[in-house]
Amino acid sequence: MANFLSFDSREAMVAAITADTRARLEAALGERGEARWAVSGGSTPAPLFAAMADADLGWQNVKVALVDERWVEADHARSNTAFLRRTLLTGKAADAAFTPMKVPGDDPFAAASQVDAAYKALDPFDLVLLGMGPDGHTASLFPAAEGLEAAMQPDGAATVRAIRANRSEVTGDEVLRLTLTLGALTRAGAVQLMITGDDKKAVYDAATDPSSNLPIGRVARALGDRLSVYWAA
Ligand code: 6PG
Repeated sequence: MANFLSFDSREAMVAAITADTRARLEAALGERGEARWAVSGGSTPAPLFAAMADADLGWQNVKVALVDERWVEADHARSNTAFLRRTLLTGKAADAAFTPMKVPGDDPFAAASQVDAAYKALDPFDLVLLGMGPDGHTASLFPAAEGLEAAMQPDGAATVRAIRANRSEVTGDEVLRLTLTLGALTRAGAVQLMITGDDKKAVYDAATDPSSNLPIGRVARALGDRLSVYWAA
């Protein structure tokens, strides 16, 4: 079972996840002289990234990666790379080494092995930050997507796989994606899921019922107590 951490306010949730993130990155820096951190896009992590961007940390030894990316160029409005450059990779955190997922080419399925090789060098991650959508997706592990089962092998050796999601309000036009695999999530030192609002709590609760096949539930069941859920209304 995941640790479900419930907070009275979003400010309290952000303070707690910021403190946990700092502690885990500092521990990795202390132990190995390097920290590997994979982070989500989406709107929810923005205040965490604002706090981390100015944190005093040995950023030059922190390797930052994405949990997923849309197959769009880095200047696209919905690029997670662009989002990270605006929010996290500014201030002190600009010294971190960032490995994008988007590489040249039209087809993420053709490019996946190249990105997988680059991300293999970072696997296992010390810490992974996930988000969750109202459809029960996490990273780009979308329900019933092409590529989902290949990415969902719990002990799969791949770190990154390509996904073609079914078009929905959540995906918008950007159905082609790359995502961290469940194998990479299970190898990580710790995984956090940051969600807000009663609607998302209801989706999470329903997904973690053993009868549910939603990706976030499958991920939560596979990770057990190595997953910490940060939630505030
Ligand atoms: C992304 C994320 C995605 C996101 C959820 C939640 O690239 O958009 O990786 O999985 O975390 O859709 O998004 P919000 O935080 O905006 O609700």
